[in-house]
Amino acid sequence: MSEIDSLKAQLESLQADALNAFAAAENLNALQQLRVQYLGKKGALTEVLKGVGKLPPADRPVIGQHVNATKSALAAGLDACETTLAEKEKIARIEAERIDVSLPGRTKGKGALHPVQNGLDEISTIFSQMGFVVAEGPEIEDEFHNFDALNIPPEHPARAMHDTFFVKEMGNGEKSEPMLLRTHTSPVQIRTMKRFLAEGGEPPLAVVAPGRVYRCDYDVTHSPMFHQVEVFKVDRDVSMAHLKGVLKHFLSTYFEKDVAIRLRPHYFPFTEPSAEVDIGCVFCAGKGCRICKGSGWIEVLGSGMIHPNVLQSVGIDSEEFSGFAFGLGVERLVMLKQGIPDLRLFFENDVRFLSRMGVNK
Ligand code: DAH
Repeated sequence: MSEIDSLKAQLESLQADALNAFAAAENLNALQQLRVQYLGKKGALTEVLKGVGKLPPADRPVIGQHVNATKSALAAGLDACETTLAEKEKIARIEAERIDVSLPGRTKGKGALHPVQNGLDEISTIFSQMGFVVAEGPEIEDEFHNFDALNIPPEHPARAMHDTFFVKEMGNGEKSEPMLLRTHTSPVQIRTMKRFLAEGGEPPLAVVAPGRVYRCDYDVTHSPMFHQVEVFKVDRDVSMAHLKGVLKHFLSTYFEKDVAIRLRPHYFPFTEPSAEVDIGCVFCAGKGCRICKGSGWIEVLGSGMIHPNVLQSVGIDSEEFSGFAFGLGVERLVMLKQGIPDLRLFFENDVRFLSRMGVNK
């Protein structure tokens, strides 16, 4: 074969190889490498061109045309493959970035009210709607408001029943008169009545006082801190009938059904007469079950007519005015309404319990 024919053949096979290789390139990077490999300074085409120098001068323009044709064929092949690959890579990128708009969004966990806080709110709201005004008092109390003014003098046996946490020193390190963590919300009666009178008020006065209370007690049904709501009303001619009417309305509203109530004679120092209040069992409708221990009744709170000594301790004339009062345990009512079996669940802060029983508002 003549020199020129051999060069032509080399150019043809180079072109065929190159176009095949371009078509097989998997990505733009690989294609770029092929461009260098075939058209670069030290590339395959340059290699073939070295042979041109050995040709007789007359043949050189002929082969020159072939070389140019091969160069343009390679360039066109590269351009075409480049366009295809660029398009392919663009589609792949879009695929990879595709967003599934049907996926549910990632939400932030929403907090919920603790079931006891919700119970406090529910109870206070029912009384607010009946016209009772919400009042609060301090959790660190003195003996006068927690006991004496409520007709529980120092030697009174009822005082021993309140297993009291005493606070001998105030936070500032000063010795002070004996203070204690209030054992009930009844002292709010005293503070509110005193404040009301000091501001020139005159009965009627109707108050609901929710809050935390403390006792040295801990078992399945007792926690050293729990919540009470104290309710009282003072006016002329307040009777036990008013007490019973308010209780019936409150308990039926709270339990969202018509609950039977029963007042049982009892003793509290700050009320006379006093009564414990039972409701018809909300689990068995009075038939008798494990919760009401077969009696059909469940004790829910203590109540009575405010003792004349209590009214007098704040300067209200007990001949002219009378009042009823009652105090209830919030945890107990929430447990009965929600069917919660163990008081300690409220304070262990197990997220599974809280997210099931917590209330979104
Ligand atoms: N203070 C009482 C207690 O914690 C509850 C109570 C009973 C409050 C009778 C009252 C009442 O106002 O009349 O055990």
